[in-house]
Amino acid sequence: MAWKAIGIFDSGVGGLTVLREIIGAMPQEDTIYLGDTARVPYGTKSPETVIRFARQIGAFLVSRDIKLLVVACNTASAVSLEILQEELPIPVVGVIEPGAARAAAVTRSGRVGVIGTAGTIRSSAYTKAIKRINPDIEVITGECPMFVPLAEEGWVDNEVARLTAGIYLQGLKEKGVDTLVLGCTHYPLLKGIIGEVMGPGVTLVDSAAETAARVREILETRGELRPSQESGNHHFFVTDVPAGFIRIGNRFLGGDFGDVYQIRLDDEAPQGGDK
Ligand code: DGL
Repeated sequence: MAWKAIGIFDSGVGGLTVLREIIGAMPQEDTIYLGDTARVPYGTKSPETVIRFARQIGAFLVSRDIKLLVVACNTASAVSLEILQEELPIPVVGVIEPGAARAAAVTRSGRVGVIGTAGTIRSSAYTKAIKRINPDIEVITGECPMFVPLAEEGWVDNEVARLTAGIYLQGLKEKGVDTLVLGCTHYPLLKGIIGEVMGPGVTLVDSAAETAARVREILETRGELRPSQESGNHHFFVTDVPAGFIRIGNRFLGGDFGDVYQIRLDDEAPQGGDK
């Protein structure tokens, strides 16, 4: 039996935090990652634009014959997941629902905080997902756009990061949340400082780890999980030149990249694979 790969996409390098968890949970699986580095960030863009990008990427990855698609980008999950699930012929997993389910399960006080990009927070996707599970949970949200460049710059444990986290998270702290969802691909890199600011009484929920567990469950149920003695190969596609992706991505993946190929995804361009 020829085993197909898991497809994963993000606006850029951030989704490598999800890929890292997927490789950790299923080292036997082949993966194909697409980072839309020419058009990042998604977090500041309109839902219409992000949906258009997500459709192009979904079509590209399905054309590579993947068995399941992971929308690693929280912003893209928030606005395009249902559309991709309807339109694509394979299971499509987003990061919002797994993170929301975990938060609903761990909160004791019934007060959950969610942080993410402007696009994710404005969509209310996390709030809706948590309330679908338990309508009594109070969800308090906050946009933390500056966390994205801080994580990319590797400024995850210095005074600038500490100050930024203090300002962004003050409101959530005052509202007494006991659980905080890291609703953006980049935020797991800032977990240390976010945890420090929120204090030991607050559980941080990492959507990336929850999503990897969900992917494993789905593949197991469908009989599509590769035998565990295999070792997976990992391929990378980006829409801008690969150099920046590799440099910054090393911080996110914490490991070696194989080949990274540059492709074009504009409406008219052929979908090639130049390195
Ligand atoms: N990947 C995005 C997310 O998880 C963060 C970066 C961006 O704004 O594109 O929402």
